[in-house]
Amino acid sequence: MMKTSVQQFKNVEQASLAVVDQIVKSAKSAVLEKGFCTIVLAGGRTPQQTYELLSKPSWADQMDWQQSHFFWGDERWLASKHPDSNFSMAHNALFSKVHIPSRNIHQIPTGHQAPEIGAKMYEKHLRDFFHTKPLTETIRISENTTFPSFDLVLLGMGADGHTASLFPGSNFLEEKKKWVTAVKEDAGSPPVPRITLTLPVLNQAKNILFLISGKKKIKILETILDEASGTAKEYPAAHVKPRENLIWIVAEEN
Ligand code: 6PG
Repeated sequence: MMKTSVQQFKNVEQASLAVVDQIVKSAKSAVLEKGFCTIVLAGGRTPQQTYELLSKPSWADQMDWQQSHFFWGDERWLASKHPDSNFSMAHNALFSKVHIPSRNIHQIPTGHQAPEIGAKMYEKHLRDFFHTKPLTETIRISENTTFPSFDLVLLGMGADGHTASLFPGSNFLEEKKKWVTAVKEDAGSPPVPRITLTLPVLNQAKNILFLISGKKKIKILETILDEASGTAKEYPAAHVKPRENLIWIVAEEN
């Protein structure tokens, strides 16, 4: 049964401390329990302070980097070094500063001729990775449909209620089999095609943590949390329901 919690903070600096604490706790418990952990990073700007904190020795020294595997929830169709690339932000803020094996950084490929190719490649990469892990890490939905179960997925939310690259008005609810899809709509900012994990993959995660900031996003969260509200379903973030814990970390100020 999924448990939802909301933690409010004055600003992103304080909220980021709560997020990095949750990352370290989730990683420690997964590594203790099964010898490795799988963490999906959020894109956008808000999580940057979290990733910078995690690179600091007081937090980094609590991580077993050899056994910690990092993935992305989505990626913009940009070169890896582009300042708007989600990989580039996490590399500069975190991975360039800690001793993590490069094989543990599972980057979404964006160097190919089309986002659809990048999406297919990432899905194959994820399937190959989870194929090497215990069966408990993959959830079988039906005879020929399985999904990975990540230990922790970090997500942001746009001011339109999008999350990862699942945008309002798109057909994200129809995807029932694929793990990764290409998003051609240039609905996001920057307006470029994207590659994203699908909603079924997000919802098979054990734990999901949203980090959001600012009044507009708080208003959307209030609508999402208001069970009675009929409008919440237009927000992709409202459809995120992990297997165990859904944690909202909210910063009043940006
Ligand atoms: C992306 C993200 C996206 C992001 C939200 C919030 O690649 O854009 O994954 O879902 O988390 O748009 O972004 P900010 O944190 O920059 O507001």
